[in-house]
Amino acid sequence: MKALVLSGGTGSRLRPITHTSAKQLVPVANKPVLFYGIEAIRDAGIKEIGIIVGGTKEEIEAAVGDGSQWGVKVTYIEQDAPRGLAHTVVIAREFLEDEPFVMYLGDNLVKSGITKLVRAFETERPNASILLSRVKDPQRFGVAELKDGRVVNLVEKPEVPRSDLALVGVYMFDRNIHQAVRAIKPSGRGELEITDAIQYLVDKGYEVKPHIVEGWWKDTGKVEDMLEANRIMLEDIQPSVAGKVDAASSIDGRVVVEEGTEIINSVLRGPIVVGRGCKIVDSYVGPFTAIYHGVEIRGSEVEHSIILENSKILEIGSRIENSLIGRNVRVHRVDRRPKSHQLVLGDNSEVGIN
Ligand code: G1P
Repeated sequence: MKALVLSGGTGSRLRPITHTSAKQLVPVANKPVLFYGIEAIRDAGIKEIGIIVGGTKEEIEAAVGDGSQWGVKVTYIEQDAPRGLAHTVVIAREFLEDEPFVMYLGDNLVKSGITKLVRAFETERPNASILLSRVKDPQRFGVAELKDGRVVNLVEKPEVPRSDLALVGVYMFDRNIHQAVRAIKPSGRGELEITDAIQYLVDKGYEVKPHIVEGWWKDTGKVEDMLEANRIMLEDIQPSVAGKVDAASSIDGRVVVEEGTEIINSVLRGPIVVGRGCKIVDSYVGPFTAIYHGVEIRGSEVEHSIILENSKILEIGSRIENSLIGRNVRVHRVDRRPKSHQLVLGDNSEVGIN
């Protein structure tokens, strides 16, 4: 069994964070989303992974390398434009050969991993297997309709969904998918949809097995999803404090403080993770916060947020909550008159002021 991981795409719903970086590399609990997927694939015993890359190719390749950090072999396959999920199967034909494979969307997180699903696919040998999850907003996803436990109908982002069963971005296929992705035509949004390719298999009488995911799953396409993913993943962290914590500080609950980080006169209440080389002074960092490397927080309070590399939060009187703060951002107090907010924000930024 091989794996095909999709890590192209523009991340339009996560702008401005993704103006300068790949959405799959935004860290959740200080680990890029994509790495959780690679680990799930590795844990299922799959050693050969093809990664589809697009405009953010260099960045993905720099982060993932040849896969040896996970003991897997990674092959990069370039997609020239976002032509759809089924199109990636077309261009990965040579890599996939005739082997069965799992297709994994690089911005999806499946908490319970995929090992059981891969084993079931190998023993039951259907032609395809899809993962489904009940959601409140099915029109944002591919939606499946089941009858007597069988898949009868699949529609990509329907305006009027016929069920609340969303397609999770993890699929398993045998070689028959190759004829399906060649037979279908581009959808209204001009893409070859994997949803249509699976419908083709259903229509031709191939066995498409549905699995309802009971555990937590998230497509981390939006900021709120990212914060939720961060919260769920932080719940499992193993506390460890490698940095320096002075006597005036207190650490409660599950807290990770990596090397080279200093905590001075501050309160840290887990679950939180603080990366390497950070400085937290006269501050409070509350539950469900992930602070990436090189961040400085002084005289401020932060809770339920993700703060990326080398950003600074300085002397902010009120608490920062539910926030996703990018790299090299400075949020600081100005004491000049007139009293005002001074903002330099990228395109599609969002600021809530109370
Ligand atoms: C893709 C699929 C959709 C699926 C979703 C899961 O949508 O086309 O069927 O439900 O992933 O994450 P996208 O996120 O690319 O819009």
